[in-house]
Formats: sequence, structure tokens, C-alpha cells
Amino acid sequence: VFPKVLYFDSIDSTNTYAKKAADSIPSDFLVVADTQTLGRGRLGRSWSSPSSTGIYMSLCIRPNISLEKASMITLIMATAICDAIEELYHISPLIKWPNDIVINSKKICGILTEMSCDMDGIKYIISGVGINVYDTSFPDDIKDTASSLLLETGTKKDRAKIISSAIYHFYEDLDTFMQTEDMSALKSKYESRLANIGREVMILDPKGEYPATALGIDETGALLVNANGKVKRVISGEVSVRGI
Ligand code: BTN
Repeated sequence: VFPKVLYFDSIDSTNTYAKKAADSIPSDFLVVADTQTLGRGRLGRSWSSPSSTGIYMSLCIRPNISLEKASMITLIMATAICDAIEELYHISPLIKWPNDIVINSKKICGILTEMSCDMDGIKYIISGVGINVYDTSFPDDIKDTASSLLLETGTKKDRAKIISSAIYHFYEDLDTFMQTEDMSALKSKYESRLANIGREVMILDPKGEYPATALGIDETGALLVNANGKVKRVISGEVSVRGI
């Protein structure tokens, strides 16, 4: 079943709204907006959200999983968006671990996952997705690294179709994930889309910055890298991976 949809022409941020609404709506729901006035990105950045050119949506779900498994929801969302794009545009986007989606090395989608938990575990998870669909220009600070589906494919697809396909694929993979509560069944699907694989990445952690080669992910969704002959696990949120 498709989650209840709350649509807005304009809103501050679909993630911010979803956080407020989560307390009064007991089921899953999806917030969609045509434009955002205060779109938020990861690491406190803003997310440019011009009217009518992008998809700005936040899905609120309530899976019965422990806190440390929540980061895998982002990986599942990234895979679902790639599936939707591939289905509609017949091209294969790649995922820059953990959650940027790139086409021809340009970022076309970002995901901001936020959650709330108490002593019993996770209350809800909000997975916020921004996709550049029809954009033909970008703010100066991202103009060299960002692109849109229209610019990269030359085709225009209906935003509603992209949204419904992504949500459909998300729930399909969430079901698979919930059977084992880990990435074991989805690992190869995610890895086949991983842009980092076999490439040199820069790992940024509290001890400093060091180069490594990305190998894949493990069943917890952590990135496995080879650094100086040793296999290390890189956990989402603890470090950031540069490169590409
Ligand atoms: C990133 O930094 O790459 C993540 C960007 C996430 C943007 C989306 S747009 C819809 C949702 N609402 C927000 O305020 N942010 C997310």
C-alpha cells in the first residue's frame, strides 16, 4: 500500500514538516513539495530547492529495528531511487557511498535521513530525498558538481512517476531488509551501483585523512576499504569519503 501523501506547493523543508507531523500521524506518510524555502542538506548545508524543477520529498516510516540499523534505510532509499531512474530513463545511475546519486560523476540526488528514538528503540525514521529533475542551472558553489536528470539524459519524465516508482521500490527492498534486518540480501544490489568500488577514496576520521581503496559494503551497510593492506570498516556519519 502506498503511504498517505501530504502535498504542498511551498514549504520550509519537507523533512522539518515530517518531523512535526510524525507525532500526530501514526502511520507511514510521504511529504512532497514543489519548492522549499529552507531545504536542508547533510552536514548543516542548505539544499537549493527551486520551484517546479525538482523532487523534494520526505518519507516517514516506523520500522521495528534498533538504532544502529537505521543508517541502512538510507542505503535502501538510494537503491530505490536508482531503480526508479533506471526504469524510467533507461540509464544506470551510481551511488556515491553512502547516499549521493551520481550520473556521469555529477550529483543529481541527495538523501538526508533523520530519526527519533526513545528507550524502546526507533520511533520513526524520516528519509528526505532531493532530486534535480528539470534544472538547467545551479548555484555557483555546486555548479561544477551538480546536474539534473534532464541535463544528463535529454529527456523529461513526470515527477509523479519518479516518486511513485521510487516509493514502490523502497517498500519492496524494505520488506527484504526486514526479513534479516541487515543488508545481506541487498548487498550485491547496492554494490552493483556503488561508484566508489575499486577506486581510491579519501577517508576523513578523527585521526586524520588517509587514502584507501573502496571494496564494497558489509551486512551492516558500512563501507569496506583497503587502507595500507588492512581492511577497515567506514561507518556512515563517523567519517566522510571524498573523491570522485
Ligand atoms: C544532501 O546533502 O545531499 C542531502 C540533501 C537532501 C535534500 C532533501 S529535499 C527534501 C528533504 N527536505 C529537506 O529539507 N532536505 C531533504
